[in-house]
Amino acid sequence: MTDIYAQPASSADAAPVTLVTLRRLKKNRQKIVCLTAYDASFAAVLDASGVDLVLVGDSLGMVIQGHASTIPVTIDHMVYHTQLVARGLKRALLVADLPFLSYCDPQTALLNAGRLLREGGAHMVKLEGNATQAMIVEALAGQGIPVCAHLGLRPQSQHKIGGFRVAGRSEAEANRMVEDAKQLEAAGADLLLLECVPTPLATRITEAARVPVIGIGAGPTVDGQILVLYDILGLGGGVRPRFAETFLSGGRSIAEAVVAYAEAVRSGNYPQPEHGFE
Ligand code: KIV
Repeated sequence: MTDIYAQPASSADAAPVTLVTLRRLKKNRQKIVCLTAYDASFAAVLDASGVDLVLVGDSLGMVIQGHASTIPVTIDHMVYHTQLVARGLKRALLVADLPFLSYCDPQTALLNAGRLLREGGAHMVKLEGNATQAMIVEALAGQGIPVCAHLGLRPQSQHKIGGFRVAGRSEAEANRMVEDAKQLEAAGADLLLLECVPTPLATRITEAARVPVIGIGAGPTVDGQILVLYDILGLGGGVRPRFAETFLSGGRSIAEAVVAYAEAVRSGNYPQPEHGFE
């Protein structure tokens, strides 16, 4: 009998990605391929295309909900979308964002990170931070919750920093970010994510860090790359960040576009110098 719901070729047989996998990829200088997803169907395409890490980003406030920023996103929204994405994954590591004001003290952070793991099915949470958040990272790590610390351009602080700006351009800012990264790692962060950071600074942080460093607009020297899924599919409403690239071109299907992105990251063809900042 023919199964009308026949599955596409998938990564079902491949071993699930864990923190050990990510550390091994860094050690072997193999790039880590990451993308965002917000629902089960796209998550399944990413998983079958060999994406290592899938992030349920609070960027969903902008690309799914149509807001001008990530600030309106709530923990309930994040739990819901994390549940959807979890159902689409078999292999990739699932990371979920702690949204604005959901980690302002250790107790609140534990409660909300616990929801993302227990109800959402996430394997790791991400928070935007500098050294000020080290005690939050320590509280989460102390309870066995893996943490990704997001440095550089931190969209949840956009009103405080005056918009979406490249971070760490002055020497003082750069030195501070290197110190922040060290403190967050010492507090127990398992992964660092650098957004819109000049390439030389991203290189410094990546070389100093023992944990893997993922970049978005941080140049080619970091251990892995992440982009917002809708940017690689050209769904940005005509606005594409300078660091992003559209892979849905030349008659490719969505799955082929995701595979092309993964191959470009792994081979070092993406990002190119024009995607980065000096
Ligand atoms: O929310 C998000 O999608 C992110 C990525 C841009 C890294 O934080």
